[in-house]
Amino acid sequence: MKPTDINIAVVPVAGLGSRLLPATKSQPKEMLPVGRKPVVQYVVEELTQVGVNQILFITGPGKRSIENHFDLNQELTQILRETGKEDLLAELDFERNPTQYFYTRQRQLLGLGHAVLCAKHFVGEQPFVVALGDSIIGMNAQSDMVQRMKQCYVEKHASAVIAFETVPRQDVYRYGIAAPKSDDDVFELADVIEKPSVAEAPSNLAIAARYVFSPAIFGALEQTGFGAGDEIQLTDAIRRLIREGHKVYGMRLRKDEKRYDIGNFGAYFRAFVEFSLADEKYGADLKHHLEELLHVDHT
Ligand code: UTP
Repeated sequence: MKPTDINIAVVPVAGLGSRLLPATKSQPKEMLPVGRKPVVQYVVEELTQVGVNQILFITGPGKRSIENHFDLNQELTQILRETGKEDLLAELDFERNPTQYFYTRQRQLLGLGHAVLCAKHFVGEQPFVVALGDSIIGMNAQSDMVQRMKQCYVEKHASAVIAFETVPRQDVYRYGIAAPKSDDDVFELADVIEKPSVAEAPSNLAIAARYVFSPAIFGALEQTGFGAGDEIQLTDAIRRLIREGHKVYGMRLRKDEKRYDIGNFGAYFRAFVEFSLADEKYGADLKHHLEELLHVDHT
């Protein structure tokens, strides 16, 4: 098998996004803009630039705008042409991306593990990527992390490769946390624990929204009961894989490669400001405005 053979990605987007209410009352959090684009468009761009050509979204009620976003909108194209706004057509180029999109519904919100299990029949007997629809990796999604993870999966004959980021020690209780076997950038996992207390966390390496799995994960998920938050946790199924003797590896994000989590307002605001400051057209003006607002003195 070659890394290029791993070309299916599952993107769970069914969650309620309740931490972002009221913004998410009638629109998916995955469609919130970060700078110019909705979060999920960055996720798709990141995946397609590393050779993913089939994407299965795990959706739910109220997520229709995600399907509409990746569809051709002939009417809009025609209106832009007829009204002399051809220059804006380039903004819709992503519609012509040759990726195939598929959608299935998670009929009960039983957690991320359950969402991934909904992909079982679509994926079949091949390795696949999971990318959370509410997290961007790298500024403007310019990251080849998933490519490096696919390589690792193939070279190490792994059953799973998981992305990790370093988080402040006091925040570990919010994440799936690694017990690594070594300090290397790529390490084998001895264990992984969902939302440990600060005292029991074996490290401050947190799962960072990207995974490569063999189909063995489905069997593990089927045997995983309800865990933290009364949800079927993907982390618990990974733990089961490790205990069954599967080789599971972790890979650290590079220093220049941040995870932008859009799941809570603090992180969302920071991501929006960072992406907007990096905008070619509006970034410089925004920087000036922020400096004035914050009374930054350059003298
Ligand atoms: P979160 O863990 O942030 O959950 O999901 P959430 O339910 O969306 O958010 P809150 O806690 O209510 O604020 C991480 C990713 O997994 C998806 C979400 O859509 C998000 O992209 N997810 C989560 C599902 O698809 N199904 C689930 O049952 C849970």
